[in-house]
Amino acid sequence: MAIETFPIPLPPAADASKFKDFGREVRGVHPGRLTDKEFKEIERLLYEHDVLLFRNIDLSPEEQYKLTKAFDPESDTYGHGNNKTEKNSKSILHPDLKTIPRVPQVQLIGNGTVYDYEGLAEAKLRHPQHPGFHKTEISPEDAAKGYTRFYRWHIDAALYNFSPPKVTTLYAVKVPRGERQIVRYDDGTSDELEVPLGTTAFVSGVTMFEILPPELKSLAVRSKVRYAPHPYVWMAPARALSTGLGIVSDGLEMPLNALPEWEESKIKTFPVCWLNSVTDKLHFQVHPCGVQELFVDPLPEGASRDGALYPDGAHITDLKEVRDIFYKMQRPAIDPKLVYPHDWSEKDLVLFHNRGVLHTVVGTFSADRIRAFHQCNLAASSDPLGPTPEHVKRFA
Ligand SMILES: [Fe+2]
Repeated sequence: MAIETFPIPLPPAADASKFKDFGREVRGVHPGRLTDKEFKEIERLLYEHDVLLFRNIDLSPEEQYKLTKAFDPESDTYGHGNNKTEKNSKSILHPDLKTIPRVPQVQLIGNGTVYDYEGLAEAKLRHPQHPGFHKTEISPEDAAKGYTRFYRWHIDAALYNFSPPKVTTLYAVKVPRGERQIVRYDDGTSDELEVPLGTTAFVSGVTMFEILPPELKSLAVRSKVRYAPHPYVWMAPARALSTGLGIVSDGLEMPLNALPEWEESKIKTFPVCWLNSVTDKLHFQVHPCGVQELFVDPLPEGASRDGALYPDGAHITDLKEVRDIFYKMQRPAIDPKLVYPHDWSEKDLVLFHNRGVLHTVVGTFSADRIRAFHQCNLAASSDPLGPTPEHVKRFA
């Protein structure tokens, strides 16, 4: 049977014109048992469409690991470094990840307690939910009516020492059934998005870049972002914005001298736009919670200075200023009509281009709702590439 692709089902709120290239359901092949030729096709499809969905797949953790590794054969450790970094109990990721003992690169994530599962006698899972992470919370009355939030928009990446994984694979074992919920943005807009319970929401990094006005495109292609050392420990005392798209600048981050030992050489500074070498497109890829400083290159020779931001370049170290710049650039892309909330069924396997999309868990539910997913991503063998000089010239 040949590999066939179909558009993914978009929610009614989505602007279909912005999802022409985004997302495909793939049929005709088992993703855990691909020939080299089939894998090459799946790899190309992933970089062209960013999210691939396989339905009704039986997939072992071994097969999932093998598939994930095929995208970057030299990679081997889990995206956050075999969980050693995240064993640090101060990290905000600590409670959310459980390793499958047989295949430590595959994590069990979800909600509720599962017993005698893949070598784990008992695993207490906790769906990350906004209370305790966002600065403000949905009131209990509104939560009872089904209102919820995006939890935290992110790229799967340690952002310190390890390179961001190229792909993340997410396999749904148990999906809680229940009523749909309504994401409220609560940022002074009346934006809302109806979503399935326990959805994973995605936005395209290409769209995030392409909808920017020219002066912000110019800034994006000329900029690099420096992440904080041990960013998930650093941000842990701080609280997030109500959209889940970054941190409120209240000065609550852990002081750098109170962090676990860190080295300058392991700090990550990445281009704001990451080059997709299959499509030659730029993906706006910034993990807004971890940003610390912004470096802006001056305009290239011959570029118009009319309306240009930081035409002579800049090094911005004021945290609030850095975050405000990113919020301005990223918020348009999480508009309700640009979000793809995946409606999970059991045995769905989703592959997403982790260097091409931002994603977030969504929703609020109680401990008796069991959700069990297998997640795998591997710290990449190299850092992402930024725009070429030609891209900079085109957009600056
Ligand atoms: Fe993630």
